[in-house]
Amino acid sequence: MVITPDKKNRKFFIFNDNKNSVMQVKYLVTSALPYVNAVPHLGNLIPILSADVFSKFLKINGEKAIYICATDEHGTRTEIEAEKRGMTPDEYCKMMHEKILNIFRWMGVEFDNFGRSSSKENHELTQHIFLKLYENGYIFEKEIEQLYCEKCRKFLPDTYVVGECPYCGNPDAKGDQCDECTRLLDPTELINPRCIICGSTPVLRKSKHLYLDLPKLSEKVKKWIESKEWSGIIKNLPLAWIEKGLEPRCITRDLKWGIRVPLKGYEDKVFYVWFDAPIEYIGSTYEYTKEWRDWWLNPEETRLYCFMGKDNVPFHTLIWPASLLGTEENWLLPDMIGSNEYLNYEGGQFSKSQNRGVFGDDIMKLEIPPDLWRFYLISIRPSTKDTDFEWEGFQEHINNNLVGNLGNFLYRSLSFTKKHYGKVPDVKSDENVIKEAFKLLDKYKEELWSLKFKEAVKTLLKISDLGNQYFQKSEPWKLIKEDEERCKKVLRTVCELCVIIAVAMYPVISSSSQKLWEQLGFKGEVKKENINNIPLDIGDHELGDIKIPFKKIDDKSLEKYKEKFRGKRGDGMIKYDEFKKIELKVGEIKSAEPIKGSKKLLKLRVDIGEERQLVAGIAQYYSPEELIGKKIIVVSNLEPAKLFGVESQGMLLAAVDGDNISLATVDKDVKNGARIE
Ligand code: 2FM
Ligand code: ZN
Repeated sequence: MVITPDKKNRKFFIFNDNKNSVMQVKYLVTSALPYVNAVPHLGNLIPILSADVFSKFLKINGEKAIYICATDEHGTRTEIEAEKRGMTPDEYCKMMHEKILNIFRWMGVEFDNFGRSSSKENHELTQHIFLKLYENGYIFEKEIEQLYCEKCRKFLPDTYVVGECPYCGNPDAKGDQCDECTRLLDPTELINPRCIICGSTPVLRKSKHLYLDLPKLSEKVKKWIESKEWSGIIKNLPLAWIEKGLEPRCITRDLKWGIRVPLKGYEDKVFYVWFDAPIEYIGSTYEYTKEWRDWWLNPEETRLYCFMGKDNVPFHTLIWPASLLGTEENWLLPDMIGSNEYLNYEGGQFSKSQNRGVFGDDIMKLEIPPDLWRFYLISIRPSTKDTDFEWEGFQEHINNNLVGNLGNFLYRSLSFTKKHYGKVPDVKSDENVIKEAFKLLDKYKEELWSLKFKEAVKTLLKISDLGNQYFQKSEPWKLIKEDEERCKKVLRTVCELCVIIAVAMYPVISSSSQKLWEQLGFKGEVKKENINNIPLDIGDHELGDIKIPFKKIDDKSLEKYKEKFRGKRGDGMIKYDEFKKIELKVGEIKSAEPIKGSKKLLKLRVDIGEERQLVAGIAQYYSPEELIGKKIIVVSNLEPAKLFGVESQGMLLAAVDGDNISLATVDKDVKNGARIE
């Protein structure tokens, strides 16, 4: 069998050896399964939306494609959250699954199937894959010491312990992975671990577990990665890990909610959630179609595109592929990884508990239509570095580009044509303009094929830019009085541009694309069109009702939203008695020095009547020299905490105005240690 990539159309054809049958490959698109326990925020929407745009793009290209996802439901957190609500884990997951799916639907995301990792299909597949790995000698048993919370009477798997990362010093690393340096961790590696349920220090207890023998699989995975035309970290990161030597990975947990381990002696254990979650990509397809085997066990004919945040990359390029390769069953493996960096919120992290940032359930209550979010999030999709969601940037982009450029072109073209002719003039269009638009369209398609979403949106805007300039220069409002034939030609041309734009924008802003389609007088669904064969034979097309497609975001609403999602600490007023507990003192900075490995932190020695060591996140705003001698205000009865491995015995106060940081100080000379009352 020969696989011939046809670079131009990006289609892959497969010829049988006798070359008499041709088969076009099909595409399976996934996005990382969202955890069922958390309402997704704007940043979590990025992979979901990227995959949606790509899958819609494939479909409008005439490709056979499906978009498969599910909720990631197993693990301790589910057990605890369900218990808190007096529900069974299954009831709780069902409720959250619906809630999350509703948000995605509201955003216009169209899955072909959105399953649940606790489905019976996933139970069957996970156990099957495990047994194959076991038969093939890639699983071994080991007795290990595990963190156990004596107060909660529970083994503490993964995210149920936090502590300091042994590699980068991040004080709040989770038991399975450090979010700062993305290293995978074993909970027992954490320095100063604490139980996240009750905060106490866990102890070590012995227990028997199963391990995936990654070292034994490493040659196989290496060969597979090397065969891929990937670049950057997608390729280099897993290869570097293999080079360093992979560690065996524990795949069982002491929990009840999960997929049973089909082995004697393991009745009280389930699989680790990261073992069964990616298998649910297959499970969800299985639930969707009887032909799931054709998608998953026919890798020559299917291309798998996986979208995810950067922290998920090692699981999709190493661990999951290793488990599938170990079955020796010819499973489909990722062909392309569309990973994104993190999206932060206005210079900090999203936090549901602090009401900081926009989450999916809030989004549905605002007066901002889904396509504005889709357009903006795809436009800023963090591809090379972490990016901030900023309300000002959002407003500017929507008002200038979506409304001012794209929307303006569509509305002025169609309303003018409708007003004067009611239909699209049946004359020839300006060939050069249309040619130029098709050139841009080719660029747009190429960018989407290569997952360059941000660039693609820019190119889309160039088509309406072209239209705006042409409309402006042609001055149809003059032509209508002076040269009707020319006027008709201009209007015909702008209407054809609107058709091109309507089809092109479908993957990104689908519902606006459909509305535009109807304004253009088409009856059916724009999604049934083919972007490689856009119908421009629209002469005499009766135009529909022409409406302004997008509205600006005004300053007043912007301020309202900014305030609403700014984030609060605690929930409102505190009692004087509570305030009185805080001890504030004047301190003089005696010395200041950077902390190795941290860009933000400085270590200070401060005299507050006694000497204290403080760690403060002010390195980007103050040099050590300018701090010495300053009289500052210190919270002196704060429990000591370690930051980057350095103990901080208090906290200094500062005014924060975006990037403008100013230390709180006293305006007369008072003695060190004076109380602030
Ligand atoms: O990191 C996460 O959000 C995980 N729930 C992703 C799982 S993806 C998978 F299933 F491979
Ligand atoms: Zn505990």
